Amino acid sequence: MRMGVTGRTRVLGIIGSPVRHSLSPLMHNAAAEALGLDYIYVPFPVPSDQLASAVAGLRHLGIAGFSVTIPFKSGIIPLLDRLSPEAEMAGAVNAVNAEEGQLVGYNTDGLGLVKSLAEDLHFVPAGSRILMLGAGGAARGALAALGVAGAESITVANRTMSSSEALISFFAGIFPHLQLATGPLDILSSGESLKQFDLIINTTSVGMNGTSFAGFSRSSLTGGNARFYDMVYAPAETPFLAIARSCGLPAANGLGMLAAQGELAFAIWTGVTPPSGLMKDCLMAVTKGYA
Ligand code: ATR
Repeated sequence: MRMGVTGRTRVLGIIGSPVRHSLSPLMHNAAAEALGLDYIYVPFPVPSDQLASAVAGLRHLGIAGFSVTIPFKSGIIPLLDRLSPEAEMAGAVNAVNAEEGQLVGYNTDGLGLVKSLAEDLHFVPAGSRILMLGAGGAARGALAALGVAGAESITVANRTMSSSEALISFFAGIFPHLQLATGPLDILSSGESLKQFDLIINTTSVGMNGTSFAGFSRSSLTGGNARFYDMVYAPAETPFLAIARSCGLPAANGLGMLAAQGELAFAIWTGVTPPSGLMKDCLMAVTKGYA
């Protein structure tokens, strides 16, 4: 059990704007306490135009490592000394580790997603056909990880077609054996089209505030047997997941990804993997009341 902060306590944290609602301090401090590790994890709200000075400050204060959240996941890249291959491919960093005076950027979101798909949906990407909704930063990280994990095909459906075209042309050179295609979001209203996918994953913010994809309904899912994953976790059940569940199809929200990316980041910082399920239980306890 933690005996309090001392002169030896190592500091971890999260930078973002805002960070007030972040659940990361809770789960990382719970892991440090459970493992008896002398670390403390604190929130650092950073104004959007102060990223460079904040990172320089953290560097000089000797921080052990830190999480990076919206809106800094891409903007932090030029301020770091090195990137992991995953971060390079994802074009985004969600965890930074201090290594022998250097700040090294990692992306654990992608592997966290793959881990959560396995744990929460018993889904293995190798050889699978995936429909991805969205073509922003979260989609890029997911596509990188699913490509590395051996997906057979990924179709990117997005509101703005030029963004999905740009995303697939970026990855075409990286994954020559992965079949990549784009489509409009209204693919969600076509039962025939949806039948061909093993996994349908939402990487957009649609679903926060209870919003839904236009045209997506129970009648889109007749005969299909896809699994459904929504990166959104508040509310715990988005209309996207509710529709899938009402048709008896497996569906999971992004809480497992949040926990899994955290476990991987914690292991990078401390060298110790948190006890299985600890972070997720922590998140579930605190999000129980989310509508
Ligand atoms: P993130 O880093 O979370 O992925 P982002 O890079 O801003 O954030 O990307 C947001 C994604 O959600 C985009 O695919 C966006 O679609 P557009 O490219 O058309 O903007 C998608 N998105 C956001 N709001 C949406 C909405 N109301 N309907 C459909 N797609 C939406």
